[in-house]
Formats: sequence, structure tokens, C-alpha cells
Amino acid sequence: MKKGIVATLFAAAVRCAVTGISLNLDDDASIKSAASTIAYGLMKYYTGNNTGDVPGNLPDPYYWWEAGGMFGTLVDYWAFSGDKTYNNQTIQAIVHQAADSRDFMPTNQTRAEGNDDQGFWVMTAMSAAENKFPDPPADQAQYLGLVQSVFAQYVSRWEEHDCGGGMRWQIFPFNNGFDYKNSISNGCFFNIAARLARYTGNTTYSDWASKIFEWEEKAGLIQKNYSIFDGTWIETGGGCPRTNPTRWSYNAGVFLHGAAAMYNHSGSDLWKGRTDGILDMALKTFARPDKVVWEQHCEASAMCNLNEQSYKGYFLRWLAATSKLAPHTAGTIRPFVRASAEAAIKACSGTGSPGMPPFRGKEGTACGFTWTANETAFDGITGVGEQMNALSAVMCNLLDGAAGPVTNSTGGTSNRNPGGGGGTTDHDPTAETPIVAGDRVGAGFVTAIVLCSLIAAALFVMR
Ligand SMILES: *[C@@H]1O[C@H](CO)[C@@H](O)[C@H](O)[C@H]1NC(C)=O
Ligand SMILES: *[C@@H]1O[C@H](CO)[C@@H](O)[C@H](O)[C@H]1NC(C)=O
Ligand SMILES: *[C@@H]1O[C@H](CO)[C@@H](O)[C@H](O)[C@H]1NC(C)=O
Ligand SMILES: *[C@@H]1O[C@H](CO)[C@@H](O)[C@H](O)[C@H]1NC(C)=O
Ligand SMILES: *[C@@H]1O[C@H](CO)[C@@H](O)[C@H](O)[C@H]1NC(C)=O
Ligand SMILES: *[C@@H]1O[C@H](CO)[C@@H](O)[C@H](O)[C@H]1NC(C)=O
Ligand SMILES: *[C@@H]1O[C@H](CO)[C@@H](O)[C@H](O)[C@H]1NC(C)=O
Ligand SMILES: *[C@@H]1O[C@H](CO)[C@@H](O)[C@H](O)[C@H]1NC(C)=O
Repeated sequence: MKKGIVATLFAAAVRCAVTGISLNLDDDASIKSAASTIAYGLMKYYTGNNTGDVPGNLPDPYYWWEAGGMFGTLVDYWAFSGDKTYNNQTIQAIVHQAADSRDFMPTNQTRAEGNDDQGFWVMTAMSAAENKFPDPPADQAQYLGLVQSVFAQYVSRWEEHDCGGGMRWQIFPFNNGFDYKNSISNGCFFNIAARLARYTGNTTYSDWASKIFEWEEKAGLIQKNYSIFDGTWIETGGGCPRTNPTRWSYNAGVFLHGAAAMYNHSGSDLWKGRTDGILDMALKTFARPDKVVWEQHCEASAMCNLNEQSYKGYFLRWLAATSKLAPHTAGTIRPFVRASAEAAIKACSGTGSPGMPPFRGKEGTACGFTWTANETAFDGITGVGEQMNALSAVMCNLLDGAAGPVTNSTGGTSNRNPGGGGGTTDHDPTAETPIVAGDRVGAGFVTAIVLCSLIAAALFVMR
């Protein structure tokens, strides 16, 4: 009996030893191969094109917005690597979740939908337009038109009477957070306004980008040193004296990328200063001294919730996009992307996490959350966010060879539809079927289990 257990443990230990993904950052073929292994593990979580399932949705416990972020990651994955494997699923997901209203307000989601949730999908559509991702069939929603429709909705949700401007976090009064104006919602608005300005050359968009940025500063959400705070509460009477100073990498990233787009568009010193200022503060805040990116607010204490576990992946993609739009930043950014990939790949050596959807990628390649540069370190926290983070870290090392984002005068072909789709009026969500996949914050925190160490310890004891 005991001998049997030892043999089993020994076999497991051997498996542990041969797990992981090899990566040579000086060889594009190696980067692509590592990225494709991680992407494969990521898409094994996706159930949206199983028979009877809904295209674009991730299974419980992942929220709808994260699926939007995932398809954006896949658009970039294709743009960087040329791997078309997931393109059809991505097109199908975008078109389905854009819904018949063509504005990323699908009836199944609207009741719980916030401006930031809609924002992660619409930024994916913008990336598709800028990268010339294959277009949906002509009778379906088109990327640029989708972005212009959501832009129009965002404009209609801007309110001067509270906090002197800004959009609320929530779209509908019955959702928690309707009394909060936050940086990520306004950051999504800013990000698409800046990119639409660059893509179309239309000054309506650049005027809005300036207005949103200046409001963020006035509201104390973008500090003089370019630290970006999470949000501000609307108090009785409409004043907003109380800010939430928590700093998240996604807030820094979404504004950094938008500022770089405005700089690229305008060439102005003003936007160069903003880009450089945000970049400098973001790298100080969201990377360790060894240049490995981390979610400083919660990562050290292993307290990041399911949503927060995915932020640093978007941050890395926004860094990469910034280095394309503001080429003078590339030399600064590259070492951070490199160090992050080197550390991330060492964490892609695990199995799944108990209590979470099982990892079905290549055995022994599940990516953990925390990246440490100096050892093989799988922390046992796995899932869609962790796969996306590692994929982003690795694939962004292909950015020197990737084409930059286009505009409508440099090859962009996505159809225009200003003010089209859902236009400026919001749907009445009370008329729609409620769904339950609301924001259950904190659902995903999983205690770390280092399986290989446990096996090693057990073997040691038994010996
Ligand atoms: C999933 O999507 C891919 C790409 O569009 C397609 O080839 C495949 O048949 C789909 N699977 C199912 C079960 O629909
Ligand atoms: C994607 O869809 C197109 C058109 O339906 C089809 O020709 C192509 O083979 C599909 N590619 C993949 C990888 O499924
Ligand atoms: C809405 O959700 C239901 C239940 O999951 C699903 O059957 C339906 O297809 C979804 N509708 C759309 C348009 O995605
Ligand atoms: C680009 O978009 C602008 C604004 O919509 C339009 O005036 C211009 O003609 C477009 N340029 C091209 C080359 O399509
Ligand atoms: C940036 O400024 C804010 C106050 O405006 C301060 O709380 C924060 O410590 C500063 N951050 C750094 C890194 O200097
Ligand atoms: C690994 O790095 C961490 C932080 O970067 C440091 O605290 C730790 O001592 C290092 N461990 C080894 C074995 O070098
Ligand atoms: C704007 O972005 C394009 C695409 O990446 C790049 O080629 C160009 O040099 C950038 N322009 C400026 C002024 O930085
Ligand atoms: C610029 O964009 C705005 C908002 O989408 C639109 O109303 C306006 O017609 C556009 N102007 C031009 C010249 O295309």
C-alpha cells in the first residue's frame, strides 16, 4: 500500500518537474509558441460556442466585462502573432454581445451593466478597427460603428451638475455605485474618445478627450503627480469632496493609452507631458524594482478578487500600445514587458485551482497570478485572468515587429456609423429579463495551494 502511494507521488513529482513552458525572448518563434500554449489554455475556459451556450459569455464565476477584455486580448494576440485560430470565435462573440441594438447593451446583461463593463467590450471593438481585424459580415455590426454608438451614449450620460462633470459608474439608478463617479468608467470614455479622434480626425472626439481628462484632474482623480485615484462619491447637493485614493493598474493603463493616442494625433507638448507623466508614475507604482508588473494594492497580500486578478494583463497591453503610439516611450517600456514575460512564464507551470473552473489546457501549463523573477513560482491561483495576464506579458514582446494601429487615412477600413446603432437613448432595462450574473465582488479569491511542493513534502516525509 505504502509503496503504491510512494510510486504515485513519485510519478506526480516527475510530472511536476517536466511542466512549464519554455520561452526565449530573443526568438520570435519561441515567443509565438509560448503565447499559443497559453492562449490554448485560456480558450479552454471559454464555453460560449458550445452547442446551446451563448457566444461571448464566460462560465460562472467570470463576469461579462472580463469576457470583453478577453476578446480584446485575443484581437491583440492575432495582431502580434498572426495566429488566426481564435478569430472566428472572436468575431462571433463581438457581434453577438453587441446585440441587435449594436451598442454592447445586450438584454441579458443590461440590468447589471455599468459604463466600465460596456467599456471593456467597446475598447475591444476599437482594437479590432485599429488592427484591421477581419470584419464581421456586412449585414452585421461593424467595429467602428459600434464604438461611435457607445461614444454617443457616453456623451448622453455625462452630467455637469454632480462633481462638475463626469459619468457615473453605473448606468441605472437601481444598481449599487450609481452615486460614484469612477476613473475606469471615465477612462473607458476617454480612451475611445482619444482613439476615435486619432482614427477619424473628427474634432468632436478630441474635444471630448480633453474635457474628460481635465475633469479627472479637477475632480482630484488624476493628481498633479499623475497618480490616478479610483473614484469619487456624489454627496447630497452634488458636491464630490471625498475621493477613493485606491490605485489600480487598469486606471493608469486606460488613461496612459488614451493620452498616447492624443499625443500621436496632436503631436502636442501638452499630451506628450501627460503621457510621460502617467507612464512614469505608473511604472513606479505598478512594477516592482525588478521591473515585473504587479497589482500593488492587493497582490502582496494575496487579496486580489477575481476582477482585480485580471487588471495587470490589460495594463501590459496598454503599455505595449503606448509604445507604438508614442515611439519615444518604447525604450522605457520594453524592459518592463520583457521582465514581466520572463517572470510570468515561470508561473505557467501549474494545474488548476480547487473550487474554480478546471484548467483544461496542456497539462502543467496553468499560469499562476503572482510573478516572481527569481524562481519557479506557481502560486496556485489560476483562471481566465491569470491566463490573460501571462499571454499579454509574453505576446507584447512581439510588439517591435507588429504594425502600429491604423487610422481611416492609413488603411483603416471599418465602416463608419456616427451616432448609429443604439444612438443616444438608453434602453429601459426594467422591461427586460433579469439575469443573475451581477457583480458578486470577492467571489473568486482562492487560497494558494502549491501542489508540487506538497507532493515533494509528502515524499520527503514518507522517506
Ligand atoms: C466554435 O467556433 C469555431 C470558430 O468559429 C468553429 O470552428 C467551431 O465549429 C465552433 N464550435 C461550436 C461547437 O460551435
Ligand atoms: C472562419 O470562418 C470562415 C468563414 O466562415 C471560414 O472560411 C474559415 O475556415 C474559418 N476559420 C477557422 C479557423 O475556423
Ligand atoms: C440570454 O440568456 C439565455 C439564458 O442563458 C440564453 O438562452 C439566450 O440565448 C441569451 N440571449 C442572447 C441574445 O444571448
Ligand atoms: C476619415 O474620416 C473623416 C471624418 O469622418 C472624413 O472626413 C475623411 O474623409 C475620412 N478619410 C478617409 C480617407 O476616409
Ligand atoms: C502623489 O500625490 C498624492 C497626493 O496628491 C500623494 O498622496 C502620493 O503619495 C503621491 N505619490 C507619489 C508616488 O509621489
Ligand atoms: C526572490 O525575489 C524576492 C523579491 O524580488 C526576494 O524577496 C527573494 O529573497 C528572492 N528569492 C531568492 C531565492 O532569491
Ligand atoms: C503615431 O503612431 C504611428 C503608428 O504606431 C507611428 O508610426 C507614428 O510614428 C506615431 N506618430 C508620432 C507623432 O509619434
Ligand atoms: C464628428 O463626430 C460627431 C459625433 O459622432 C458627428 O456628430 C459629426 O457629424 C462628425 N463630423 C464629421 C465632420 O464627420
